[in-house]
Amino acid sequence: SKKLNIGLFGFGVVGQGLYDITVSRHLNLEFKKIAIKDPSKKRTLPQELFTTDKWEILNNPEINTIIELINDAEAAYEIVTYALKNGKNVVSANKKMIANHLEELVAIQHEYGTSLLYEGAVCGSIPIIRNLEEYYDNELLYAVSGIFNGSSNYILSKVFNENQTYDAALKKAQDLGFAETDPLLDVGGYDSKYKVTIAAAHAYGLFVNPDDILNIGIQNLQTSDLQYAREKGQKIKLVPVAKKQNDNEVSIYVLPKLVKKEDFLFNVENEYNGVSVQAAFADQQFFFGKGAGGHPTGAAVFSDISALRYDYRYEYKKTLIEEKVTFNNEEILQV
Ligand code: HSE
Repeated sequence: SKKLNIGLFGFGVVGQGLYDITVSRHLNLEFKKIAIKDPSKKRTLPQELFTTDKWEILNNPEINTIIELINDAEAAYEIVTYALKNGKNVVSANKKMIANHLEELVAIQHEYGTSLLYEGAVCGSIPIIRNLEEYYDNELLYAVSGIFNGSSNYILSKVFNENQTYDAALKKAQDLGFAETDPLLDVGGYDSKYKVTIAAAHAYGLFVNPDDILNIGIQNLQTSDLQYAREKGQKIKLVPVAKKQNDNEVSIYVLPKLVKKEDFLFNVENEYNGVSVQAAFADQQFFFGKGAGGHPTGAAVFSDISALRYDYRYEYKKTLIEEKVTFNNEEILQV
């Protein structure tokens, strides 16, 4: 397989996690340069590996692969589109950027013959994008739902099971590197929304603007809500859903839901994620794994890097859905 000469953008939690996975292994790849924001931070790698100039990577003809793991979605968009248009394949874990620009990113890949992979953007270590992409038939897939945000789930677990305060649990999720820089993205359900938008593209070939999707987060849950769940022997989980209403309609939303003991999601705690898929014939399937953190997310990024060796690309499905998105109010009322 061809050697991958990598330009890495970002050396935070996931970037370092990825580096740990590759270091001192005999892989046919090399990190040529790592772009960072703050050169004064102490780092364990040789200084000459780092740069603050993105063009040093993007215009380096030796570099054939870009790994984009930065925070800033707009800066990420500039980097990723430039790279794809200039013959470099890209791996990104930037769910916000991907969800907001997916249709355009697909068009760019077609036009320029390059590939963008992003398994790490949705549910950390769980290989859900590859599975939606390859395993399920569009027509036979009824629903994709689950717990897609590690930080919110971590907070809910700590508050519900250990009676910690919301603020203390959030602080811990931040300290552990699970939370976004702006934690409202996590607790407000935005991060889950970006992820379910991306999942819907691979499930149904449907490109949806995240702004059109309702997201209600966990930040306004009251102690009395948790108490109510407890009395019923249930838990509250933040659940994104993409679900067929009929042959032509899909509902997509993010809501805190009551989850019964029998539900697979009931036992998904802390930073773990779970993805439930319902399909005809295959019936219900459940994927479980760590949804946040440097090593689990790095593992997904690494699997994309490996896939680029054999020129893997997403095909996306031809959509059968005519009525883009509807939101079914009845469903909220059931919650
Ligand atoms: N902030 C995200 C989470 C990180 O908590 O799930 C992984 O995408």
